[in-house]
Parts: sequence; C-alpha cells; structure tokens
Amino acid sequence: MGKERSIGAKASKASVKKPQTILAPRGKLAVLLPGLGAVATTTMAGVFLARRGIAAPIGSLTQLATIRLGKRTEGRAPRIKDFLPLAGLDQLTFAAWDLFPEDAHASARNAGVLDAPHLDAVRDELEQIRPRKAVFYPEYVRRLQGGHVKTGADKAEMVEQIRADIRDILREREAARAVAVWCGSTEIFVSPSEVHQSVAAFEAGLQRSDPGITSSQIYAWAFIKEGVPFANGAPNLTVDFPAAEELARRHAVPIAGKDFKTGQTLMKTVIAPALKARMLGISGWFSTNILGNRDGEVLDDPGSFRAKEVSKLGALERILSPLAHPELYGKLFHKVRIEYYPPRGDAKEGWDNIDIFGWLGYPMQIKIDFLCRDSILAAPIVLDLALLLDLAARAGLRGTQEWLSFYFKSPMTAESVYPEHDLFIQSMKLKNTMRWLMGEELITHLGHEYYD
Ligand SMILES: NC(=O)c1ccc[n+]([C@@H]2O[C@H](COP(=O)([O-])OP(=O)(O)OC[C@H]3O[C@@H](n4cnc5c(N)ncnc54)[C@H](O)[C@@H]3O)[C@@H](O)[C@H]2O)c1
Repeated sequence: MGKERSIGAKASKASVKKPQTILAPRGKLAVLLPGLGAVATTTMAGVFLARRGIAAPIGSLTQLATIRLGKRTEGRAPRIKDFLPLAGLDQLTFAAWDLFPEDAHASARNAGVLDAPHLDAVRDELEQIRPRKAVFYPEYVRRLQGGHVKTGADKAEMVEQIRADIRDILREREAARAVAVWCGSTEIFVSPSEVHQSVAAFEAGLQRSDPGITSSQIYAWAFIKEGVPFANGAPNLTVDFPAAEELARRHAVPIAGKDFKTGQTLMKTVIAPALKARMLGISGWFSTNILGNRDGEVLDDPGSFRAKEVSKLGALERILSPLAHPELYGKLFHKVRIEYYPPRGDAKEGWDNIDIFGWLGYPMQIKIDFLCRDSILAAPIVLDLALLLDLAARAGLRGTQEWLSFYFKSPMTAESVYPEHDLFIQSMKLKNTMRWLMGEELITHLGHEYYD
C-alpha cells in the first residue's frame, strides 16, 4: 500500500490496454450508503468490530482471500489486500441517508441482525452515524412511510441537494475521496424509457420531474456528477441505462450493479454451471424464500417483487443457454417466490427444488435448504465493492465495471455483450482483472502438457 503501481506492465497480449498509474490510497475514504437499514448497519458494525480486532470480516475477498500469481511452481499467493493498493479498514469513514432518523446503532438494533454484545462493543461509533434526510418519492417504494425526507421544487433540485450533502460529508469527515453503495430498499420495477437514453434527456427529465426517474437514480446521478464511484446493491434500474453510462464515462467514474448476489442466487450460479458442465438436463427449478425483515416487507409489494423477480430469474436462462441445448433446457420451468414472514426476521430460508434428468432421460431431484442470514452475506459484498470501486477510480477505470459481476445477481454489462452469471467464470474474471491491474501475467490454467 502507498506505492504507485503500473497497470498491465507485464501483460503478455498485445491487445491488452497500455499501462496506467494507480494513485495511492492516501487519506480517508468516505463510504456513502443511501439506506441505513440491515445491510448498511451490519456492514458498518462489522468494519468497526474488525478494526478493533473483536470479530473477523468473514466473506470478504479483499480482507481474506489470496490470489495466485505466476506459475504454480512459483509459490506466490499473497493476500489480495497485500497485493492491491486498497484503502485499509482504518481509513474508512461512513455516512448514510434514510427516511427514518434513527442513528446506525438504533437502526441496527431494530434490524436484529447482530447480537447485543457486538452492537454494544461499537455503540459509540454507530451512534455517531446519523442519516441525512432522504430523497424519497413514495410511489417507488410503496410499503414505507417516513418523515426524514428532503423537499424541493423538482428532481433536479434533489440532485443538487445530494451533491451538497456529499461535499459537506467530505469536508466534515476530512475525507480525501468517497465511494457509494446503494443499500436502500428495492424500488418498483421500472423499464428504461426515453429519459434514460442520453445525458441531455435525463437532465431535461430531472427539470420536469419525469416519473421514470426514481429516488435511487437521483442519488446515483449526484454521486457520478461528484466523481463518486457507485455500486447498486438492489435490483432497481438506478444506473443500468445509457444516460448513466454516458455520464459515468464523461466524469471518469466507475459504476457497477446490480442486486447483491447473496443467498439463493449464489447457490443457483454454482449448481447450474455444474449441471450444465456435465450436460445434465433440468426440467424444473422452483425457488422460494421466507424472510421477515424490512426488505421482506418491501418485497411484499408486487411492484418491488417484480424488480427482484426479474433480477433472480435472469441467471439460469443465461447460464444454461436453452437455445443451444433445447434437449436439456428447452422446457425448463423456472419459478421464484418470496414470502414475507415476520417471525424469521433477517434469518431467511431459501428452498430450491430442482428436477433434473440424466442418461436416457431418467429423472432425479436436488433439494437445497439454505438457512442463511441475509445481511451477514451482504455486508462483506458492500465492503469489497467499496474498496474495489475506489481502486478502480484510482486506476482510471470508468463506466460499468464488468469484472465486479462476481458480486451481483444481475450484472451490468456493455450493451454489446451478455452478462456472465457463472460464479466461477466471474471469479476468474475478477482475479484476472486484479492481476492485469498490477501488471501480473493473466492465468489461463493451461497445464504443463502445453509447454516443451
Ligand atoms: N441482504 C441481502 O442479502 C440482499 C441481497 C440483495 C439485495 N439486497 C438489497 O439491499 C437493500 C438493503 O437491504 P436491507 O436488508 O438492508 O433492507 P432494509 O429495509 O433493512 O434497509 C433499507 C433501508 O433503506 C431505506 N430507504 C428506502 N428508500 C430510501 C431512499 N430513497 N433514500 C434513503 N433511504 C431509503 C429504508 O428506510 C431502510 O432503512 C434492499 O434493496 C435489498 O433488496 C439485499
């Protein structure tokens, strides 16, 4: 850490981009989280606990994973955090927005994810995080009502208010840079329209408060204009449209999304590639979930559920490519349900029933019952995205960062290509991009058989 590195210096292929400089991660990094609910508070508390040495940041690649470099014979496998010039946990400072005024400690207690001893140990730090007033148009999240909200003449003014907040936070925290991750509720399903096609159209839409522009889009627009890298943890449209990409490129800001890949979809994108790799058929995949947190309550609204459903359904189709394998996947029936069931709180249960068939068409079944904790799985993703997007910005990367697909249910991509959902392809892409960033050889997994 602290040293400036050369990108791609040793990359072997002529077509790989030329080296650039990665700026060192000097000073504090403000992590800005719209939505101070279960995921955001679990992330913050986890970082505070980890830096006091009370608990380990399990699930975070940036903190725990190693990366192989060079040939297997070289025995080089440093920790990612020692390999990449990432901001350290002790350099992070958090800020948030929410339509409820409770501080991060009170919100974490309501969310009921972490136990009292953990929350008590970092109570002082959590209590200092008080959310700023939200930009909240209730028509996009129908199940929530809160009074801690901004008012303004139009959506353009709301963007300016968030921009002013960002500058204020940077000043107040004496932070050198910021990065933002959407941890707010899932908004209703919105299809991109005319207003989303160009920066000019979007700016005009803001002036007339176009109904296609949701609250999360307003935050994202403000972040990009302030040069703040942004990741979208929910299935909302938010930055997944041409105008946002154009703006991000113009302001040299990396963006990524969407919808954290945590429980059921994580399993789906592990199992489906395995079945496909062995050319086993699938006739049906029924996925259902029960969860009882505020996220579950919001998803009980059909509009918000539709956004989540679209996000959850896409992965299988893409991994299995039924058009190429009609005999294996042409008749696949895929259904996803989410049921709001308050007694469970954040402890979600996700069931999958998979009807498969093998040699000569004989049927078999797989059952998965994942008793998970939603926010415990999401928190390390928020941390990794914040650190990796900050790195991407310092490396001069801009626009959609496909190498971060690993973290998302519905990875955003360039318009000309389809998203990669297979977790192992995503993992390879993630690590090869890290190698490329640091000028290390990309790993192709060609064995000794291929060399003299
Ligand atoms: N936990 C997971 O495993 C997981 C996985 C994928 C996606 N997500 C998504 O992450 C998001 C956060 O999940 P959570 O469990 O923390 O939900 P949560 O309901 O506990 O927290 C969301 C918070 O966002 C606030 N909010 C809503 N609209 C806002 C706005 N316009 N501005 C500011 N604040 C706003 C709500 O008041 C709430 O406090 C959800 O969209 C969820 O779908 C979570």
